[in-house]
Amino acid sequence: MNNDFTFAIIKPNAVRTGKTGPILAMINEGGFEITAMRMVRLTKSQAESFYSIHQGKSFFEGLIDFMISGPVVVMILRHENAVADFRKLIGATDPGKAEPGTIRKIFAVSVQMNAVHGSDSSESAQIEANFFFSGIERFNT
Ligand code: CMP
Repeated sequence: MNNDFTFAIIKPNAVRTGKTGPILAMINEGGFEITAMRMVRLTKSQAESFYSIHQGKSFFEGLIDFMISGPVVVMILRHENAVADFRKLIGATDPGKAEPGTIRKIFAVSVQMNAVHGSDSSESAQIEANFFFSGIERFNT
């Protein structure tokens, strides 16, 4: 296995409703190795900073309120072709458009409360992993 990785979040709607375990099981069954993981409650400024690329969009304020509404699980996932393969596993941002059997199809309740986040590129994965994890907390990524 190479050192290709992505960054993922299990979002508040999924954590709140007890879906952390089932989602982690799907991640493991998908062949991803969890190389760092933590449960955190984001502050408003952390959430705004993490999603700063979406600042100004119509859904931004709602997204921030949602992301700080409860704890999330943040993690780094190692896998060959990690970014693309994880996005395949989670399905489209809009669960209405997600393929059957994907994490979002199963666990999302709306576009906003779409159960999981996955980085959209290797560059984003690097930035997002660094946002939450220091080197000492990361195993092999
Ligand atoms: P995520 O993959 O975390 O990236 C940005 C998030 O913004 C996205 O998942 C959704 O939770 C949210 N989002 C994106 N588009 C919309 C939209 N049209 N309406 C509401 N929320 C959105």
